[in-house]
Order: sequence, then C-alpha cells, then structure tokens
Amino acid sequence: MKCRRCSELAQVRLPSHHTGFCASCFETYFLRQVERGIHEHKQFSKEDRLLLAVSGGKDSLGLLLALSKLEYDVTALHIDLGIPVSSQSARSTVEAYCAAHSIKLHVLETTEKGLPIPEVKKRVNRPICSVCGKIKRHWFNRFAYENGYNVLATGHNLDDEVARLFANTLRWDQAYLAGQGPVSPAEGRFVRKVKPLCRLTEYETAVWCFLNGIEHVLAACPYSAGASFTGHKKLLADLEERSPGMKMQFYEHFLQRGKPAFQAIRAEAPPLNECARCGYPSSMEVCGVCRIKEQLEA
Ligand code: AMP
Ligand code: FES
Ligand code: ZN
Repeated sequence: MKCRRCSELAQVRLPSHHTGFCASCFETYFLRQVERGIHEHKQFSKEDRLLLAVSGGKDSLGLLLALSKLEYDVTALHIDLGIPVSSQSARSTVEAYCAAHSIKLHVLETTEKGLPIPEVKKRVNRPICSVCGKIKRHWFNRFAYENGYNVLATGHNLDDEVARLFANTLRWDQAYLAGQGPVSPAEGRFVRKVKPLCRLTEYETAVWCFLNGIEHVLAACPYSAGASFTGHKKLLADLEERSPGMKMQFYEHFLQRGKPAFQAIRAEAPPLNECARCGYPSSMEVCGVCRIKEQLEA
C-alpha cells in the first residue's frame, strides 16, 4: 500500500479511513485530526488557559506532545493516587516527560487531601475504580478552577468515547447521554471540559507515541481488572472490522442527532446544588467526594 499523501510506502494502515500513511505523513494526519476535533467542537483556542490531566499513559502523554507541537498554551496536572509502586511509576514518568520537554507540571497528591486510594479501597464498599474516578474528576476540576485554568482537557480517545456511549445507550441513561461528548461547557464552579483526541482511536494514539518515542506507563492500575469498558471495546472493534468507519459514524451521528434530544429532556431537570462542605457542584446536599472523606475520617 502507498501513502495517501506522498505515495511512498505506507507504514500505518488505517482501514476506517480506507487509507494508509508513511510515518511522516501520519504525523501530519494525526495533528490535523487533533486540530479538527478542537475546532469542530469549539473546544478551546490559543487564548484559553488550558490544563491537561496527564496520567502517564499513552493517551494523555501523546496528547501533551500534540498540543505542544500545535503551540497551545498547555500546563500538565498529574494526580498521585498514593498506590504503592504504580503511582510512583506513573508520577516519575510524567515528571521525566515534562522536565525533558520544559512543560509546566503540577502534581497533586490525594493523600494530602485526606484521600489515599489504598485507604479509600479498604473503607468504601464500592468498586474502587468508580470511586477513584470520582475523586480524580473532582480534583481535576477543583484544581483548574482554583488556579485560574478555564479549560480542562483529558486524554479520552474515540474508542473511550464510543465505548462509553454504547454503555450509556444500553442503559438509555438520559442524564449521561445528555452530557456526553467532546465538550462540557463551564457551569458555576465547573470549568469547561474537553477531549481533543475525540477523532483518534487508541491504535492511532499508540502509533503516534511509538513514532515519537514517548515512554509511557504500560502497566494497568493494580486495582482495576483492566481498562474500562474492555468487553464493549472488543464488541465495537469487531463491528468496526466488518464496517470500517462505524465507530466514528456512531459517535458523530449521536452528537448531531441523539444528544440534542437528550439535552432537551434534561433541560427540565433541577440545577445542581453546591456541596455544603466543599462548595463544588453536587446533586445532593454533600458531594460524593466529601462523603467519602467523611467516611474515612469517621
Ligand atoms: P482513564 O479513566 O484512566 O482511562 O483516564 C482518562 C483520562 O483521565 C486520561 O487520559 C488522563 O487525561 C486523565 N487521568 C487519569 N488518571 C490520571 C491521573 N492519575 N492524573 C492525571 N490525569 C489522569
Ligand atoms: Fe484509580 Fe486504579 S486508577 S483505582
Ligand atoms: Zn464536596
């Protein structure tokens, strides 16, 4: 197969785009897809103060490189969860990358906030991944809000988004379907949240990291049975193989045709309260994170 842009030998095959690229044209393709996702969904501009949550995995580190190459003003935030071995390795990977590329990095330790994840796991009788996810999202937003960043980006890619959409659709979860997408607008103490990799698959991001020599964390979190939505991702990969382009179509058509309908239904829902303890948005009197903290302090 020949590269679509320069006709040299293609090194990366992209069946969903019915095409392939050589390494150098893949770089151009990848950056264009990131830019297209950002512009199409009005995620942010060069004037915004952008904070990127960087876990040390391939998606967020790959995105950090792409945003730097595209000359966005981006600062990294890493959350150290206090999990023996894995948190140290994730943190040092992010620190080494940011030091080598002169990228400003903030590290926040959940232990300092009264929420060491190993302790939370012992005390809270719910799947640790969803509790940990809640804590991370709370602190991504809170750190951005308190430090003057108006946009918070994460490394979620097209596969993550499609798998989540599939799960939300299976449950017809109106609230999640109304809120899902590459941009969540700012509201009260919620800063705007964006997903600049929404047009790129896990495979494409892995190739991008490989071609750019990015050393990312490979090991999964010791507390999780594997990546999120693994079963759904396998099913969707099977569908994609039979109908290349299906994932992107499912996601884009949802954003154009499905999401507005769910948003119209949700418009009647009561607005969020402010948590009585921390003041951040919550559907209950006290938010989930403050309730976990109280449980640990009891
Ligand atoms: P995950 O839910 O682990 O697939 O992560 C989704 C996104 O959340 C990543 O691409 C990162 O942007 C962000 N993220 C996850 N864990 C952390 C962490 N410990 N510190 C900073 N960002 C994180
Ligand atoms: Fe939070 Fe594994 S990353 S429990
Ligand atoms: Zn709270």
